[in-house]
Amino acid sequence: MMTEIVHVPLGDRAYDVHIGPDLLARSGALIAPLLRRPRVAVITDANVARLHLDRLRAGLSAAGITMEALVLPPGEGTKSWPHLTTCVEWLLAQQVERKDMVVALGGGVIGDLVGFAAAILRRGVRFVQLPTSLLAQVDSSVGGKTGINSTHGKNLIGAFHQPSLVLADTSVLASLPPRDFLAGYGEVVKYGLLGDDTFFQWLEANASSAAAGDMAARIHAVTRSVQMKAEIVARDETEEGDRALLNLGHTFCHALESATGYSDRLLHGEGVAIGCALAFELSSRLGLCPQEDPSRLRAHLRAMGMKTDLSDIPGDLPDAAGLIALMAQDKKVSDGKLTFILARGIGQAFITRDVPHDALHRLLTEALASRP
Ligand code: GLY
Repeated sequence: MMTEIVHVPLGDRAYDVHIGPDLLARSGALIAPLLRRPRVAVITDANVARLHLDRLRAGLSAAGITMEALVLPPGEGTKSWPHLTTCVEWLLAQQVERKDMVVALGGGVIGDLVGFAAAILRRGVRFVQLPTSLLAQVDSSVGGKTGINSTHGKNLIGAFHQPSLVLADTSVLASLPPRDFLAGYGEVVKYGLLGDDTFFQWLEANASSAAAGDMAARIHAVTRSVQMKAEIVARDETEEGDRALLNLGHTFCHALESATGYSDRLLHGEGVAIGCALAFELSSRLGLCPQEDPSRLRAHLRAMGMKTDLSDIPGDLPDAAGLIALMAQDKKVSDGKLTFILARGIGQAFITRDVPHDALHRLLTEALASRP
């Protein structure tokens, strides 16, 4: 089956994202041209190591590349100072030099952490992203945002450090629990909503086959998502402007994640899907987008079996004022004003700092009232 290649055009930091089946098995041939000596240092987590590390080792060894691996505990807690220290000291102990290559094998936590370790090791070594979750394949492995969490909030410590290569092996998606696949799909649907109504229509028709395992549909969904992310990152690498479009649904999502304690009551991608539904509802109430768009989006999310409304989040939530207060802690607040991504229609998102407080308060009050 075809491998797609998306180029991320960032001058001397440009790189390719390969998307297709069995890329771990072919990783050696793809990584070899980037190496000065045939060895790499791989960092992963215990779940991913159990499922995929042997395949990676075999794939590298087929091209004569040896690897050492550091296996960290799975989970968001790994994106922290102690594990960053572990990574950096281990890489130094492995005698990783400026011209060597570090490999991040895992989901968003591993990609962000290892990318940051690579950014600060010897003032910056190159790294390869091998994203194993759908969320990491369509979002976090591309674009160079790396970092760890602080006690003050998520992703508050980090650096922009672009990978030298991304291999999104769509075969590994078969090992994801359905809930994780659908959470990652929250980020996929976001791309259709923010910039491409044709892609959204394609998702309406094909996303259930992709979720059921159709490889061609999976490759197309990941490729179109990565193309859109690459275009936006090329325009605005460090998020001075347009890159914020990628945060569609995220202002709501961050408040909901914070309200649910970043627990498995709500996965990040689930919060993105609910946040997108709220952003479209708000856009429609403000007369910005057609009234049928929010219901069309919710119908698609429901058809996919996804969390769609606040009523789908188990347990208690703060009231509207409490949620708005949590939104105000978002790192995208500037001069105390919230930034929202709203839409003039499906595929037509824009950035605004002018959302009337009343409309936001009413939207959340009504959304909370629909909870059982
Ligand atoms: N995940 C949003 C971004 O990369 O900008």
